[in-house]
Amino acid sequence: MSKGLFITLEGGEGAGKSTQLAYIRQRIEDAGISLHVTREPGGTPLAEEIRVLLLGQRDEAMIPDTELLLMFAARAQHLAQRIRPALARGDWVLCDRFTDATYAYQGGGRGIDFARIAVLEDWVQGELRPDLTLLLDLPVETGMARAGQRGDLDRFEHEPRDFFEHVRAAYRARVEQEPGRFRIIDAAQDIAGVQRQIDAVLASLLATGESA
Ligand code: TMP
Repeated sequence: MSKGLFITLEGGEGAGKSTQLAYIRQRIEDAGISLHVTREPGGTPLAEEIRVLLLGQRDEAMIPDTELLLMFAARAQHLAQRIRPALARGDWVLCDRFTDATYAYQGGGRGIDFARIAVLEDWVQGELRPDLTLLLDLPVETGMARAGQRGDLDRFEHEPRDFFEHVRAAYRARVEQEPGRFRIIDAAQDIAGVQRQIDAVLASLLATGESA
């Protein structure tokens, strides 16, 4: 069976992920590749409902295990309904965050043991892993200053700086473990600078994809 390419985009707060996701989408579609753009948590109606639970503020605190399990519940639904069928058709999938975010936020940020996350990863995903992950990396202070200019903050965006330092460190640890899958993009640069880096990553990929 043909299999499409599974690309994920990751980054901390204020890394410019939405802008760059739109840019990557355009570049891939311009190359004539059939692409599905989606996000986590979310990507199906039910998974989007779980997202609302995860991001909303309420009086009762959500304990880290609940947060972790809801992330993987949404992911199981998303994989079955959208990601796996698209890849099986040979389409490409571009996903705004995936399991590296769970290692970064629930592992690094909340302090859940990475080994426990790995158990759920194997359970929910089986062998499936992204083929390529772009990490938009920038100092936490810079990212928070950018993100702070936005209005409505979700449950994660209310976390203190220390939380995001741990998130960043966990992302970078993931890169060290799997250097072949990741491309680090210096997101502290201006938009044009970030897009030049993305172009460099996509150049070889698109050349291969078009001829596939
Ligand atoms: P977004 O702001 O990039 O749309 O992501 C929503 C939030 O969800 C973001 O603060 C990161 C968080 N998140 C996790 O904590 N764990 C995960 O596994 C995923 C996919 C997202």
